[in-house]
Amino acid sequence: MCGIIGINSNKSVSASIINSLKKLEYRGYDSAGIATLHAGSINEVKSEGRVDNLEKNSVVQNMVGTIGIGHVRWATHGLPNSINAHPHSSQNVSVVHNGIIENSTLLKKFLVSKGHKFKSQTDTEVIVHLITENLKTENIINSITKTLKSLHGSFALGIIFKDQPDLIIGARRGSPLAVGYGPNENYLGSDSYALKSMTNKITYLSDGEFCVIKKDHVEFFNEDGIKINKKVLELSSEEEKHDKGDYKHFMAKEIEEQPTTLKNGIKEYVDASNNDINIFNFPWKTNEISSITLIGCGTAYHSCMMAKYWFEELTTLNVNVDIASEFRYRKNRFKKDTLYVFVSQSGETADTYAALSLCKSKEMKTCSVVNVIESSIARDSEFVMPIHCGTEIGVASTKAFLGQILILYILALKLGLLRKDLKRELFNKKLKDLKELPDLVQQTLSIDNKIQTISKTFNDAKGSMFLGRGFSYPIALEGALKLKELSYIHAEGYPAGEMKHGPLALIEEGMPVVVLAPRDDYYKKTISNMQEVIARGAKVLLITNKSKDEIISENIWETIEVETTGADLLPFLLTVPLQKLAYYSALKKGYDIDKPRNLAKSVTVE
Ligand code: M6R
Repeated sequence: MCGIIGINSNKSVSASIINSLKKLEYRGYDSAGIATLHAGSINEVKSEGRVDNLEKNSVVQNMVGTIGIGHVRWATHGLPNSINAHPHSSQNVSVVHNGIIENSTLLKKFLVSKGHKFKSQTDTEVIVHLITENLKTENIINSITKTLKSLHGSFALGIIFKDQPDLIIGARRGSPLAVGYGPNENYLGSDSYALKSMTNKITYLSDGEFCVIKKDHVEFFNEDGIKINKKVLELSSEEEKHDKGDYKHFMAKEIEEQPTTLKNGIKEYVDASNNDINIFNFPWKTNEISSITLIGCGTAYHSCMMAKYWFEELTTLNVNVDIASEFRYRKNRFKKDTLYVFVSQSGETADTYAALSLCKSKEMKTCSVVNVIESSIARDSEFVMPIHCGTEIGVASTKAFLGQILILYILALKLGLLRKDLKRELFNKKLKDLKELPDLVQQTLSIDNKIQTISKTFNDAKGSMFLGRGFSYPIALEGALKLKELSYIHAEGYPAGEMKHGPLALIEEGMPVVVLAPRDDYYKKTISNMQEVIARGAKVLLITNKSKDEIISENIWETIEVETTGADLLPFLLTVPLQKLAYYSALKKGYDIDKPRNLAKSVTVE
């Protein structure tokens, strides 16, 4: 996590740095800081909390300097306070850092023995002192090369020097970093999004590389300090506008945008006139793939779980699902006939990116389902299937989830058809249902009043459970995650059939339990499991779909009926009330819905 910006210009840079930091807040928002170089001295201002706090500081408002670096932090080492905020500076050097230095304790010991004094609890400060130490005997390039070689772990760095009025160094290992080119000024940013308001000409650093940014040109070096050439890419110059419109929160807006997300995805891949799905330039023949492994984190992992059910239903492929942080360190059996699919909204999640890099190093087939198409995961995958849901600002993923599962469903349908696992008539029927889905989601969105009342019970409880079977199980997990991250209420997602193997012991009088029981093949089984929790005092919120058949159960506390469609598409509809439950529950508690505590939108540390 954390965000970096650096600007080397002819004019004062502090206002532009603050503006870019605001854009980077999705990467971390527990503290922020800025350092500029003016008249041979480094001026540094840092503050706890949001960039707004930093901006209000009168010193920042009057800050001069035509070269500077800024940072938003998501704490890894040390409390989220102004001392641990970045930049960290010595007399000569100021550094901003994303990532984690794993050997910081050892390095600190060495540096203290050399007389260096530390001010913060961070791992980053060792980088400052190491460069300062190396500068005693080396020139800038050599001191950077030497310093980077001593660091274990991951980093993206922005560095300025007291006696270098025209130089910012950027360095990358593990954490993404981009260089931008402007008129008479150049930039450093932790992603192109941060730079987009200033330029659309970008170079991405690869692992092990560093760069020297001057006002009028940029040079790139490999890990041995040898100059290399890099390409300048021209990105789309359109800047998306981000405002909440009439909504109180981005999350509320993003939930309501879901019908559009689905329409966009369907328009992109479904060939309505030929009743087909087009996945242009898919690089592999179907007989080259006999299994699929889906990898992601958090909500994206739940998308992978969802897709497992669909791939098993619609194809005869073997399907595996993995959490990226587990996959990257396990002794995996890599197989040439496996398609590895990486699912990520941001495309920058460190663990997912590391899992992709691992698969690439083994020369596996790699495909990504991402929202940010300029991201590291999208750039480095062999094939990309974009979600096209527009920027998602709320930390809690909503429209990206529906966007991800839509693309995965489409991929499963198409592979099922191509492999002849799925009959044409059935494919056509599913395609027809799919085209109707955006309207059904739209209708399902109008359940606010009921959900608002229900959310109070969840807020008053010690904890809650979300149960489902089959297609509904991954949605139960996602519903529980949403409630946890927004309302800070303990919520567990569980396969309904597993309750009696332990978790049933948690059920006590009045405990709210969400049961997802759509009228599918699992309906009767789930209803039986629901009875088991009702019998033990649970207050059950049953979420099912509309049907002419009566609900075959008594003593249900509340029922929500979503619209009706084919069983495999019901997960889209079941998701909506769960997103709204989490939203209203957090709203009632007065929490910061778009920026929940301790979290960040893009998790760029492992
Ligand atoms: O950007 P990604 O989709 O790779 O992010 C993965 C998770 O960090 C993310 O889904 C997270 O779990 C969300 N905050 C959930 O709402």
